[in-house]
Amino acid sequence: MKSPTIKLLYIVVWSVSGKLNDQNPITSDVYSQSKVRVMQDGHQDPIPSDVFNQSKVYVMQDGRHLPEYHGYERPCPDAEHIAPCVCTYDSVYNAMDLNCSAVESEEQLKQIFKADFPFKNFNHFDINLNNNIKVLEVGVFNGISFEIIHMSSNNLSVIESQAFNSCYETATEINLWENMITSFPFDDVSLFPKLSYFRLSINWFQSMIPADAFHGLTALEHLDLCCNFGDIVGTFQDLPSLQSIYLSYNSLTTIPAHFIKTGSSDLSYIILDHNDIVSVEPGAFDIVYGLAITMGYNSLSTLDEATWRPYLEVGGVLLAEANPLVCGCDIAWLYGEDQLLLQIGNDATCSDGENLRDLDPKIFDLC
Ligand SMILES: *[C@@H]1O[C@H](CO)[C@@H](O)[C@H](O)[C@H]1NC(C)=O
Ligand SMILES: *[C@@H]1O[C@H](CO)[C@@H](O)[C@H](O)[C@H]1NC(C)=O
Ligand SMILES: *[C@@H]1O[C@H](CO)[C@@H](O)[C@H](O)[C@H]1NC(C)=O
Repeated sequence: MKSPTIKLLYIVVWSVSGKLNDQNPITSDVYSQSKVRVMQDGHQDPIPSDVFNQSKVYVMQDGRHLPEYHGYERPCPDAEHIAPCVCTYDSVYNAMDLNCSAVESEEQLKQIFKADFPFKNFNHFDINLNNNIKVLEVGVFNGISFEIIHMSSNNLSVIESQAFNSCYETATEINLWENMITSFPFDDVSLFPKLSYFRLSINWFQSMIPADAFHGLTALEHLDLCCNFGDIVGTFQDLPSLQSIYLSYNSLTTIPAHFIKTGSSDLSYIILDHNDIVSVEPGAFDIVYGLAITMGYNSLSTLDEATWRPYLEVGGVLLAEANPLVCGCDIAWLYGEDQLLLQIGNDATCSDGENLRDLDPKIFDLC
């Protein structure tokens, strides 16, 4: 399931086409003027709000508002009350982060969030490479919120319904890459209006993954459900900011009309490799200039003109290596004057192994 080969291929695809997330606030010296109000006894005083009452200063380049703890020297909770979690505050990025990677049990995690937190809104939350948390329980965060939730390469298997309820209004990024999740509250996904990056790849969904759960997430830019061997049911619609969608290594067999109809004009990648796709209906995807669709390692026996011409005609690219294509008259359209063949990746082969690029176009004269 988590074979190194799959992981490697996947990482390559992701890093070639995916976007690393930059969270760069303005680094101008606006922030070097921040007023530190730590009294002599260590007590911290609130900074009068009008110090920041300049809308230009208030919103950072990445759209984040200056957090309420801006200007404090030590906004973190006391280290000993939250150990082994570690809170760090970066005054340049204005980010207070919490790293609980070393947490020893679910009970300990729960206790930690009962400590006194002077500020409740963190930027990053991390639990990575941890074997001790299997169930993420509802209520565990006790009202503490995060913008970026990164829980990767753990043994998490169950995310309880509403486990992230303190983050509905704040989360922009949820990354649960490479866990053992079999149970996830997909019904909660629509409750994250700012979510722009959602990654649930390399988990153990052998059951259903409901595509409809993502409908209407207007901020969502990157959606990654790769490598779950899951049964993706429904359609991905009304995602007007979507740029990339990764659905490789699942169990898709037939792609219906409107399968990925996001309405986004920024859609750049639809990744469907390593499923068991035998057919794609016309109108399955958005038609967007320059869209790359990858369909490698599936079971397509033909490339229907009605399905594929609309994408290629607007400069799209289709990668279709390792499909058992029957190279008969139904692909003759690729060899016409408009030379659409050039927009099929150069690894596509007929079922007998011959490369589509090597076929003599004359064989289609009689079609
Ligand atoms: C910010 O400034 C405006 C006008 O300068 C004022 O009306 C408003 O009350 C101020 N807000 C705060 C939080 O001080
Ligand atoms: C979190 O803490 C662990 C040690 O417990 C460390 O290895 C890891 O690099 C830290 N991660 C981040 C993102 O700070
Ligand atoms: C976590 O999962 C790994 C395999 O992915 C396994 O070797 C390890 O024993 C698991 N740890 C626990 C505490 O279950």
